[in-house]
Amino acid sequence: MVTRASSCVTSRIAAADLEAARDVLQAAFAEHGHDTARDLDQLREEFARPWSRLWVARREADAPIVAVLLAWHIVDELEILDVATHPDHRRLGYARALVAGAVAFAAEHAVVRVLLEARRSNAAAIALYRGAGFYMSGLRRRYYPDDEDAVLMTLAFDPQTRQIVRLADEEAL
Ligand SMILES: CC(C)(COP(=O)(O)OP(=O)(O)OC[C@H]1O[C@@H](n2cnc3c(N)ncnc32)[C@H](O)[C@@H]1OP(=O)(O)O)[C@@H](O)C(=O)NCCC(=O)NCCS
Repeated sequence: MVTRASSCVTSRIAAADLEAARDVLQAAFAEHGHDTARDLDQLREEFARPWSRLWVARREADAPIVAVLLAWHIVDELEILDVATHPDHRRLGYARALVAGAVAFAAEHAVVRVLLEARRSNAAAIALYRGAGFYMSGLRRRYYPDDEDAVLMTLAFDPQTRQIVRLADEEAL
């Protein structure tokens, strides 16, 4: 399925796009310093896993990939593992379109909740997920190797209506 946002196109990744996705992830995480991006072998493993979902975003159908989202769809949960936009293409709505596409996929596949974690200091990611309907569902203190806390975020669906349930934060930053 191809999802069109106002200024971009998102789609499931093709095998031929794995290297470009690796480049986007490496460029996006290089600036963090404390997070290592997945390498090509890891992306190939993800591509082969039946429960793995890799989506990419680009400006138009044949344009280069500029953003990537990796998630695991396991039974009635979708866990978002990576969302990354190339530093040269930030604040253009690519990550928002990918997250919206993942949430739409979840709604279509009887997913009960979408889960993810982010570094407590990652204001960009937290704002992105909040905007999509996620709430702060927990904190894992000193979770990362450098002792930073992880923020757990959840997006919940009403099982009857399949609509997003807007829940209040259970943790404050
Ligand atoms: C987080 C990240 C994926 C956002 O990608 P993006 O394509 O620039 O995001 P979008 O343009 O879709 O932004 C959507 C919304 O997210 C929020 N947002 C994005 N970047 C932000 C920033 N630097 N500061 C504050 N809010 C931000 C805003 O609410 C934004 O909406 P707005 O532009 O209308 O204000 C990108 O900054 C990135 O790749 N960071 C490094 C990797 C990373 O940290 N990934 C998340 C791991 S959990």
